[in-house]
Order: sequence, then C-alpha cells, then structure tokens
Amino acid sequence: MSSESCFWLQTMPTKLFSILFFTFTIIFSLFSFLIFILRMKPWCNCDVCRSYLKASWAQEFNNLCDWYSHLLRKSPTGTIHVHVLRNTITANPENVEYMLKTNFDNYPKGKPFSTILGDLLGRGIFNVDGESWKFQRKMASLELGSLSIRSYALQTVTDEVQLRLIPLLAKTESHDDGVLDLQDVFRRFSFDTICKFSFGLDPGCLKLSLPVSSFAFAFDEASRLSAERAMTPSSMVWKMKRLLNIGSEKKLKEAIGLVNHMAEEMIKQRRIIGFSTRNDLLSRFMSSINDDKYLRDIVVSFLLAGRDTVASALTSFFYLMSQNPEIESLIREELDRIMNPVQEVANFEQLREMHYLNAAVHESMRLYPPVQFDSKFSLEDDVLPDGTFIRRGTRVTYHPYAMGRMEWIWGPDCLEFKPDRWLKDGVFVQECPFKYPVFQAGVRVCLGKELALTEMKSVLVALVRRFDIRVVGSNKEPRFAPGLTATVRGGLPVRIEPKLIRGK
Ligand code: HEM
Repeated sequence: MSSESCFWLQTMPTKLFSILFFTFTIIFSLFSFLIFILRMKPWCNCDVCRSYLKASWAQEFNNLCDWYSHLLRKSPTGTIHVHVLRNTITANPENVEYMLKTNFDNYPKGKPFSTILGDLLGRGIFNVDGESWKFQRKMASLELGSLSIRSYALQTVTDEVQLRLIPLLAKTESHDDGVLDLQDVFRRFSFDTICKFSFGLDPGCLKLSLPVSSFAFAFDEASRLSAERAMTPSSMVWKMKRLLNIGSEKKLKEAIGLVNHMAEEMIKQRRIIGFSTRNDLLSRFMSSINDDKYLRDIVVSFLLAGRDTVASALTSFFYLMSQNPEIESLIREELDRIMNPVQEVANFEQLREMHYLNAAVHESMRLYPPVQFDSKFSLEDDVLPDGTFIRRGTRVTYHPYAMGRMEWIWGPDCLEFKPDRWLKDGVFVQECPFKYPVFQAGVRVCLGKELALTEMKSVLVALVRRFDIRVVGSNKEPRFAPGLTATVRGGLPVRIEPKLIRGK
C-alpha cells in the first residue's frame, strides 16, 4: 500500500469526524433558530402585534408606554400579550404581587437580561439571581441600613446642593436668558453624588465649565449601548458584532474598558490609603470582600441603579411643578412652616416632618416612574392570579407607568397630579407596594429607596424654596427616549427665576 493511501486512511476518521461535527452544528443551529422563530411568532397577525410591527401605534400615541397603558386599560384582566416579542405585560396588582413575592422563585431576572448587561455589570447585584444575589443583598442591606452611611449620603447631597447646584442655578438666573436643560443638570448632579457615595470619588460633573469627565462619558456610553442590545431583533445580531468587535459592540467594549480602568484604579488607591475609616460603599465592602473584580461589579451596579433613576424623578417633578403652580405654593407653605427663614437645606428630622412634600414626590413618580417597566423570565409553566397562562421562558413585564394610569387602581382622577391622595388627616400614608411598584416590591424591592427619597427631598427643598423653575415652550406631554430609565427626549429646557426667601 502506498504511503499516500496510508496517510488518507489515517486521517479519514478525523476528517469524517470534523465533517460530521460541522454538519451537526449547522443543523442544530438551524433547528434552534427555527424553534426560536416559531416561539416568537413573528408572523402573528393579531391587532396588537400588527400595530407593534408596523409602529402604527405612533400615529396616536407619543410613547410606546402610552400605547401599552391604553391597551392595558381596555383589557378586562389588566394583562396583554405582545406575541411577536413573547412578552406578557401586566398592570394587575395581584399579578405583580404574585411574581415579585408569592412565586418569586419562578420569576428571576433570567438569562436574557443578565447576558445583555453582563459585560457592564458582571456579577453585580443588579444582574444576578440565586446565591450570589442573596449574598450581596444581605450585605448591601446591612450597609445601607447603617446610620453612618445614611448620614454620609445626606452630607454628600447637602454639599453638592449648596456648593454646586444652587450656585449654578443662581448664575443661570442672571445669564443666558435664565434658560438651561434641567435634565442634563440633574444627570450631572446625580452622577457626582452617586460616585461620591459609591466610591468616595468626586467626578465634578456639575462644574459646567469643565467637559464631562471621561468616566461619566464612558459610563453613559456603556449603559446606553448595553440597553440598545435589548432592541436588536435577535441577540444573535449583537453577539455576532461582539465576536467580530465591530460597530456599537466595539464602542461598548472601549467604554466598558474605561469604566473598568477607573474602578480598578479606585480600588487600588483605596487599598494603598486604607479603607477602614471611610464611609463610601466601596470602602465598606472592601472590609468583607477581597476579590477586586467582584468589588468592581458590585459598585458599578450601584452606580447604574442610583444615577439615572434619581435624575429622572427630579426632572419629572419640576415638569409637574411647572404645570401645577398651586401645588408648588402648598409645598412652599409647608417648608416655611418647618424650616427657619434663612435655612437653605433641611435636616433629617425636618425632612421627616414634610408630609405634603413626601406626598408630592410619591405622586409625581406615580405618573412618571423612573423605571417605567421591568421584566422577569418565567422558569416553569405557570398561571397568574388573573388566569393568564405563562409558558416557561416567557418574558413577563409589570408596568408601573401604566399602573399609575389605571382608573380601577387610582380612581377616575388617576391622570391628575393630586398629592392629597397620599394623605390622611395631613399625614402621609404609604400605598400597597404592589399597586405602586415604582421601587419594585416584594423580595427584591429597591435597596436605595430611602436614600433616593432623602436625596430627592433635599434637592427639592433647596430649589423650590429659592427658585421659580418653569418649563420653556409648550407644556405638552413628554416624549421619552428608549433606554433602561425614563429620559425625556431632547432634555427639559427651563427658565430659572429667583424666588426670594422671606426675611433674607
Ligand atoms: C427614584 C430613585 C429610584 C428608583 C425609582 C429605583 C427603582 C428601582 C427598581 C424598579 C429596582 C428593581 C430593578 C430590577 O430588579 O430590575 C431597583 C433595584 C435596586 N435599586 Fe433602586 N431605585 C432608585 C434609586 C436607587 C438608589 C439611589 C440606589 C442606591 C444607592 C438604588 C439601589 C438599588 C439596588 C442595589 C437595586 C437592586 C436590588 C436587588 O436586586 O435586590 N436605587 N430600584
């Protein structure tokens, strides 16, 4: 036998195996793709899916969330299906309680969500389920519950308000026709405060004379591009781009690289200068965790959770103040009653006494929740309390924005801004969290809720007392940009006018 045929015989099994493996992989991929397509029902011809696919809803509604609210209002169960997205959306408080508490284990964040945000958030609390989530949740609630970290947070906010925010607005009131983009200002403000709180670092974003810090820019890019992954028709699109390192995925990789670099530097510095006497979140976690990558993931999750949410809530509050000056006057009356005439910022005890302000803050987030909707993925087949069947792997979304607009939850005046609905004999009364899941609810309720409310109220007290802030141009309903948190498209231009403090 010739040496050539010998060689052929020797290599044949390997070649055959490669061919078989390759063929099997292709058939398997095609089969998975087919199953995926079949489950998505891309051809679904029901009214909702047709309107979604043709985007014909946009002829009647400003925002997708307004269209969903309209459909949910009409649905007898308060639940709808968008078959082409394999998404069940609910505004029914009983369903919300069921998925966030009663049958919590069946509704994790799930793989689709954690894959999309995985490169940015890694194993951070926002992006994990199971044991890793439990561990971080326990540790983070202990830290956030401590008095010293709460005082540190209030001091951080107070400094930023007094030293940067008030001077900036006071300067605007006398320059540039007194007009600025309030949303941009609040985004800068909340980035400064959450960075100081999380890392003990001051990026100085509110100094408008400076260009936005490279860290803030990279963080914004990374969050925006990660959210855009969710909008591609199939995850295969962005995964392929990531593999080839092209387009938006290349940019995302660069932005995440910068975020990682900054976080690593901060952790390194903190190890050198010591962390035991510091109160920022990073220092506190460093006393129990040694793994630097894990520390980075934990802190970046906090940055994402606490930054845009607060900015979004503050922006909508002033949009509503502009439309409801009579409510602003009632808030001012309360502040004048509780604070002394020359006081710029309130302390903990005073904030606690401000029932009307608290009611107004909750009411504004009822109409404009910073997180408009939130999805989970069902692990097993299930039936929701309203009788809706949920097939395993389905995305189930609860929709706080729509829930704030349901007559059967809030009554016939649900579209009106009425802080009084939160008061009983002048005292603020908390609503059922499953009716009002603005901070989520149940087992995984927001860990920064109290901190966020304190931060917001501190800012509002200082600004409402000192300035008249009015939206410029027509007061039409906001249009939102797509993303993880509600952001007004094009910003919120406002005119800043002085409001004199009596006795000053
Ligand atoms: C108005 C402001 C805020 C709103 C409306 C809000 C809302 C929410 C919502 C809806 C979730 C659930 C998200 C999900 O599971 O997909 C959440 C989770 C979370 N929030 Fe907030 N949040 C706010 C501010 C903050 C702040 C300032 C912090 C931190 C300092 C924070 C820390 C967290 C954390 C750590 C989680 C994850 C909890 C867990 O998974 O167990 N939030 N928040």
